[in-house]
Formats: sequence, structure tokens, C-alpha cells
Amino acid sequence: MIYLDQAASSFPKPNAVAEAVGKAINEYGANPGRSGHRLARQASETVDLARRELSDFVQGPPAERVLFFQNATQAINQAIFGLGLSEGDHVVATVYEHNAVRRPLEWLKAEKNIEVTYLRPDDKGNFSIGSLKEAVRPETRLVAVTHGSNVTGAVIPVNEWGRYLKDQELFFLVDASQTAGVLDIQMKDWHIDLLAFPGHKGLLGPQGTGVLMTGIGVRLQPILFGGTGSHSADPLQPDVWPEGFQSGTLNTPGIAGLLAGLQEVKRIGMAEIRQHEEKLTARLLAGLSDIPDVSVYYAGTPERLGVVSFSLRGTDVHEVAMILDEHYDIAVRAGFHCAPLAHRELKTEDSGLMRVSTGPYNTEEEIDTFLNALREIREGLAE
Ligand code: ALA
Repeated sequence: MIYLDQAASSFPKPNAVAEAVGKAINEYGANPGRSGHRLARQASETVDLARRELSDFVQGPPAERVLFFQNATQAINQAIFGLGLSEGDHVVATVYEHNAVRRPLEWLKAEKNIEVTYLRPDDKGNFSIGSLKEAVRPETRLVAVTHGSNVTGAVIPVNEWGRYLKDQELFFLVDASQTAGVLDIQMKDWHIDLLAFPGHKGLLGPQGTGVLMTGIGVRLQPILFGGTGSHSADPLQPDVWPEGFQSGTLNTPGIAGLLAGLQEVKRIGMAEIRQHEEKLTARLLAGLSDIPDVSVYYAGTPERLGVVSFSLRGTDVHEVAMILDEHYDIAVRAGFHCAPLAHRELKTEDSGLMRVSTGPYNTEEEIDTFLNALREIREGLAE
């Protein structure tokens, strides 16, 4: 299988990830933070090490403010609902937001009378700092933005945004679902208050892992209540980081795998990963531009991820994806990518798009095979 759906989940995973997961299950499968015995301590040490290494990787907060969740969606829910927004508050986001951001915001809009402004990109698919400046107003309590679109691959300059927002009385939440492990992120220098990302995409870890990092000045309300392994006699959720936000047993095997994935990213080098992705994307874009009837959405975006969405005139994107899968053994993702506002912006809300997304283990030969398959499909469907 040629796997070009890395924006949904990275595959294959490094061997070290499967080994770390297996080791956590087979050698120290105890409950971190619950019992004092040696195996439980080993599980806790793995989790704590993962907190520290993840935080170092993005210039994040002290380790206790690194929270683990099952995925980025839960991390984002904790961030947005944890801020206690109330009627009259205003939020700025963009049309590139995934439903993980958009649906919590829409719920707050419907249930709590929060106002939400979704910024639109310019005609090349980029977001200027000017549009952010215009949108922020005295009632703005949160700016929630994706670092990179999972549809167009456009990168939003969150470093510039953060520097502008640092003097405003609001929280800055960055959804790094498509960028963690691929692009440099500096939480402190960029004044990011809340950073959420999955473990299973650019960080090459297993599914079932997501992270929320919360800056030291940020107060959050938990969204999940229950056993924390501490303050057990207290009827109320303890106001303690990280336990107060992590009720229930953690996914130690997943976190061990995520740590191994992060270490693999560091071993290869993020600059190397990025360069490889840029090379593959340039080849893909050049090849697509040579195929008649193919329209790439925002091909000219200056800084982009290894994520390219396109249509093939006269064909149904789902049918083409199915042919790629069944006849050519090539995996891509067709449809709306859980980002309906982006598709509305692109005027593809009825048809959806086909998306190819690359990762560190994809090769130029795989891109060429994909392009040849697409040429054949186009000719076959046109006959
Ligand atoms: N959000 C993931 C994607 O873009 C699942 O495919």
C-alpha cells in the first residue's frame, strides 16, 4: 500500500514506537500515579519523561502543565470549555478550523451566546495579521487558530499572531494537529497560552494520544471529573496540575509510544523531515499541474505543509479515491476532512476534494506512482 493519508494519521510508525508500546504492556503494565510499587513507579516515570520531553520540544510550560488526552479533539475541548467563556464573550477563529475547534465554538455560540468571528483567507489562501487586528475587540477572550490547514496545507503565521496578541487581555489557543513534529513551535516566544496536538500524526506516535499544554498564567476548569490518584477523600476535583485534569487511568502504552515517536522525530531531525516533505510536495504539485482537468486548491500558498487537495473535473472524488485504493493500492482521503468551513471557502462544500498528504517515510517514487495512477484514472473515466 502506498499510504498518502498522513494528515489523518501517520503510517507506518517507527519500529521504536511499537517496541515502546509493547514494552509498556509487557514489562510494566501498571497504573501510573495510583500505586507506590515499582511497576507503577516505572509507568509514572515514563509518563513524566514524556511530559518533559514534549514540553522541551515546543518550549512549553513546566511538565505538570502538559496534559494527556486520547486525541487532539479532547485536548481542544479541554482548552475551549476550560476557559469558562460566558455570554457576551467573543472568539476569533478562522475558516480553516477543524470541527474539533469549530463545533465546541458553535456549541458555545448556541448555548452561551458567545460570538464567533471566522476569519477568511486572502485569494492565495493566507491569513494576514491585518485581518486578525481588525477582528480582535475588547470582548475578545479567545483567539483559537489552526497552525496549518488540513485541507489546503496553508500555514498560519502563529508566531506573528502571538506576538501581536501578547498585549491583549485574551487567551491564544493554537491547534497544531497538522504541524507538531513537522514545523518549529515555540510556545513561550510566540506567546501561545494553550497548545493542542495529537500524538499520532507528525509525532509518529500511536493513536489514542493527544496533548494539551497550558501556559503558567492560564486558569482552567476541568471538563472531566473522577479519580485522580490523589486527594481521594476530597469530594471535589482537586485543583492540582496535572491530576485535576486527567481523571481516570492514563494510556501509558500510548504515551510510551508517543515518547518513542518524538524521539524518532528528533533523531531524524525536524529540518530534515520538513525538507523531505517540501521536496515531495513540490514534485506532487508539479505533476498535478501537468494533468489536464486537475485543479489544485491554493497551489500558490507560500508556506505549505505536505497536504495538497485537488479535484479532477468530471469525476466524483470518492469514486477516484476508491479506485486508487482498490485498483492501485494507494490510500488518500476524499471528502470534507472534518473542515466544512474550509470547503465552503473553496466552494467545494457539495463535492469535497481529494487530499494527498505525505510524511517522512514517503518517497518520490510513490508520488510518481500516484501521479501515473491518476493519469490512468482520468483517461479511463473520460472514455
Ligand atoms: N483531521 C484528520 C484529517 O484531516 C483526521 O484527516
